[in-house]
Amino acid sequence: MCDNLRSMKPVVLVTKRIYPQAIDFLKDHAEVDYADSDDGLSAAELAGRIRGKQAVVSQLTDKFTPDVLATLDGIQVIANVAVGYDNIDVPAASSHGIMVTHTPDVLTDTTADFAFALLLAAARRVIEGHHFVHSGQWTKWRIDLLVGHDVHHRTLGIFGMGRIGQAVARRGKGFSMRIIYNDALRTPEAIEKELGLEFVTSEQLLRESDFVSLHVPLLPETHHMIGARELRMMKPTAILVNTSRGPVVDEPALAEALAQHVIAGAGIDVFENEPRVHPLLLKLDNVTLAPHISSASVDTRIKMSMMAAENAVAAIEGRRPPNLLNAEVWEKRAH
Ligand code: DGY
Repeated sequence: MCDNLRSMKPVVLVTKRIYPQAIDFLKDHAEVDYADSDDGLSAAELAGRIRGKQAVVSQLTDKFTPDVLATLDGIQVIANVAVGYDNIDVPAASSHGIMVTHTPDVLTDTTADFAFALLLAAARRVIEGHHFVHSGQWTKWRIDLLVGHDVHHRTLGIFGMGRIGQAVARRGKGFSMRIIYNDALRTPEAIEKELGLEFVTSEQLLRESDFVSLHVPLLPETHHMIGARELRMMKPTAILVNTSRGPVVDEPALAEALAQHVIAGAGIDVFENEPRVHPLLLKLDNVTLAPHISSASVDTRIKMSMMAAENAVAAIEGRRPPNLLNAEVWEKRAH
């Protein structure tokens, strides 16, 4: 192809390293400006590099605030490689006519597996056991050595009964757990029946659950929805699992509650100021910590990368992106 024609292709900015299959796919349909690094772009770099592009494939570390969005002349779509999109001000994007897409479904089971892994690890003290053996402290069998909490037949409380919440409930059902939930909207009766779910108030959920697992999006209403007061409502034997977004939990309050044994333990994959973790959490044995890897299986991360690339390509080729969050922008264009 001659250079003139090539330069007429739309240009996609990829802000951070993704799986190569997705880059190859993008290159089949567009010019690609690839920031092939795990560092990501600073706000200033992003503003400079985005000029003249038609699409951005972004990640949750890229912050699209109203100020940044106001500078994105010519951008048709922000294709986020994540199901969560709290890094993008979607109403502001809509007001600038920018479509926003995300990557639902492909990570549901992978994320639920990891939430359950954290739940089991925290309840059965898997990490403590590992360190105990690894450091050579295991010299004799003891009747009460690293005794933990049963998971089977206990009560699992789920905040947020969307796709991932339901997948976690399914796993809980496999462990013969009683499953209670709270959400802004009641789940359809057929799903409640299939999964054996009981809808309860948030206070009831906190008071009755042996395990509380969070699956809500980060919104102004869910910011710090678990704080000192909520932690005090939980059983002293309860375990909190967070694979949603860090700011849903007041992290200093959680660290304090774990240190004071207000609750028994926690399994935490997401933090308020990632990659920084509250220093007290780093000192405690009753918390299992992970670096925001709930969706991190090879297959799922490839699918997420591909899905974002497909969303970007659909938009620049004038098709409705399959995982569009702000349909109103598309409707406006179509009419
Ligand atoms: C998401 O997709 O929102 C996760 O937090 C990262 O996979």
